[in-house]
Amino acid sequence: MLKIQTLPLQGDCKEVLKTLDDNSIDLIVTSPPYADQRKSTYGGIHPDRYVEWFLPISAELKRVLKPTGTFILNIKERVQKGERHTYVLELILAMREQGWLWTEEFIWHKKNSYPGKWPNRFRDSWERLLQFNKQRKFNMYQEEVMVPIGDWANKRLKNLSTTDKVRDNSKVGSGFGKRVSNWVGRDKVYPTNVLHMATETGNKRHSAAFPKHLPEWFIKLFTQEGDWVLDPFMGSGTTNRVAQRLRRNSIGIEILPEYFERVKEEIKPVFEMQPAQSALLEEKANYATTESK
Ligand SMILES: C[S@@+](CC[C@H](N)C(=O)[O-])C[C@H]1O[C@@H](n2cnc3c(N)ncnc32)[C@H](O)[C@@H]1O
Repeated sequence: MLKIQTLPLQGDCKEVLKTLDDNSIDLIVTSPPYADQRKSTYGGIHPDRYVEWFLPISAELKRVLKPTGTFILNIKERVQKGERHTYVLELILAMREQGWLWTEEFIWHKKNSYPGKWPNRFRDSWERLLQFNKQRKFNMYQEEVMVPIGDWANKRLKNLSTTDKVRDNSKVGSGFGKRVSNWVGRDKVYPTNVLHMATETGNKRHSAAFPKHLPEWFIKLFTQEGDWVLDPFMGSGTTNRVAQRLRRNSIGIEILPEYFERVKEEIKPVFEMQPAQSALLEEKANYATTESK
């Protein structure tokens, strides 16, 4: 029987994080309040002060993350006075100064973005998912997020050219190369760094909840059963709910008592799962994932 802990904590994560052990977390996945944007709901940070506000928090996150761990930060710069504010770019540079490696940037393509008309831009249908690490070698379980190879295989792999059968090095000297014939006979491939997911519309308890497939994808990619996941801006606890279902321990920190209380009421702090029960849960979740695509 696998025993999984889920610990919601209440308070300002800048302070609460200090109570967590050094090098104890395998994955941090979070969406902090965006600069000023949702002030009416849970307090915004002025774009000009965003970096200054976030750096003490990211210093704590760096301390609690294991050397093999990963930090995924969902963020998007807002428009101010007709142009994109640069606080996200400044934050990346400041976090690099703080000792983080900016390993990768995933794009969350919001498939269901709301139609609209603006005089000088189109509707915003993507957000950044920045990946930071403490070192170049970190845990990554790529096989867990493979996707069906799809129609591409039928068309592309039917008639292989001579180049397809050898390693074809990039013509622009990037050092990258590909051998197309490697994919013959396979039914799954590695995904791209663009995640196509609809925004959450069913969660009436929080105005900015993650779609559950978003933390799910990163939890599968960067952790194993029994590992520890942290969301320092827990909100309605999406990350923690998914972590528990995937049999990962988790901690969530939330400043607003009403959100914290709800999560505390709804998620069991200790979850003991029989292997058969967990297999059933996984099957249900996979069915839901397929249905929503
Ligand atoms: C964008 S929401 C996160 C939503 C969450 N991903 C979900 O799926 O429900 C950000 C959350 O961070 C909380 N928050 C804001 N400042 C905080 C702080 N300093 N420490 C902890 N939580 C904070 C807000 O109350 C809000 O619920």
